[in-house]
Amino acid sequence: MEDKKYILAIESSCDETSVAVVSLENDLVSNVVASQILSHKRFGGVVPEVASRHHVEQIISCMEEAMTAASVTVEDLEAVAVTEGPGLVGALLIGISAAKAFAWANELPLIPVNHMAGHIYAASYVKPLEFPLMALLVSGGHTELVYMPEHGEYKIIGETRDDAAGEAYDKVGRVLGLEYPSGKEIDELAHQGNDTFNFPRAMIKEDNLDFSFSGLKSAFINTVHNAEQKNETLDRLDLAASFQASVVEVLTKKTLDACGEYPVKQLVVAGGVAANKGLRQGLTDAFTTSFPNVELIIPPLNLCGDNAGMIGAAALVEYKKNHLAGWDLNGNPGLSL
Ligand code: KG4
Ligand code: ZN
Repeated sequence: MEDKKYILAIESSCDETSVAVVSLENDLVSNVVASQILSHKRFGGVVPEVASRHHVEQIISCMEEAMTAASVTVEDLEAVAVTEGPGLVGALLIGISAAKAFAWANELPLIPVNHMAGHIYAASYVKPLEFPLMALLVSGGHTELVYMPEHGEYKIIGETRDDAAGEAYDKVGRVLGLEYPSGKEIDELAHQGNDTFNFPRAMIKEDNLDFSFSGLKSAFINTVHNAEQKNETLDRLDLAASFQASVVEVLTKKTLDACGEYPVKQLVVAGGVAANKGLRQGLTDAFTTSFPNVELIIPPLNLCGDNAGMIGAAALVEYKKNHLAGWDLNGNPGLSL
């Protein structure tokens, strides 16, 4: 390819092995995602050792496939980016080892990237990010409101005090007998039912920007177990719809509060749960009414879940700041923004 330069980005923090090629102008040229979900389903969650083993098996072919799909060779590359954390340490280490070996062998700089920053920067493929910016980050491990005054600067202004939203979806799904991860399926069931159970909306009236989903999860599980003891059958569609209505209402209310408190130019909704149709619709309706002058960006579904494209976009920001890693880069499972 001409004189254009590219970054090879690698993501392996959880259960997707992913490699992407991104141009220095932030064009996503290829984004290969090898999911391991089928292997984890029968255990009802991600098994760290199984995840690491899959990453080892997949990483080289994903790197080759991403470069072939982008029609780039090693000479076209400017740098290698990799997820440093947060995530499963064994899983992170596979991506980091591959990135280090490739970068060292080819004399390329290594860019360390925070996975959660990656989720936010997935939105930059939809529109250029403008600051100040608010991000609602909703994934399997995190539920956070993040205020960004500038590129690469993050201030967590609200977060969950217990379960993450995606985690609550997955736990409730298990009670309904659904396979892991169950967020997508509950979303589909919810659209066919009605909010009849009136589950709690935790912390919605409190004057802070924090979340709590464990009370909702317990209310849901108790409702199902009580009915089982009485040999009653509850409507699964209404259960799903009631659960989702509570999650969407709380996420929407707190996000609107955050944007009221911190005036911003854009709101980004990111992470696996940002794929939720109910949330996308509910938040868009409420937000465009309350904040018609703030631009709302929710990335397309393929960029909401874990993927290396988002890591490449966040890496460009770090690269411009000359934030590079040494050859001693280690996985950091608890890395914060
Ligand atoms: O961001 P992600 O792919 O991985 C993490 O970094 O955690 O998020 C995965 C989470 C899972 O909990 C999954 O159930 C949830 O995102 N999820 C959804 C939907 N699609 C995925 N939750 C609700 N509705 C969906 N449509
Ligand atoms: Zn993620």
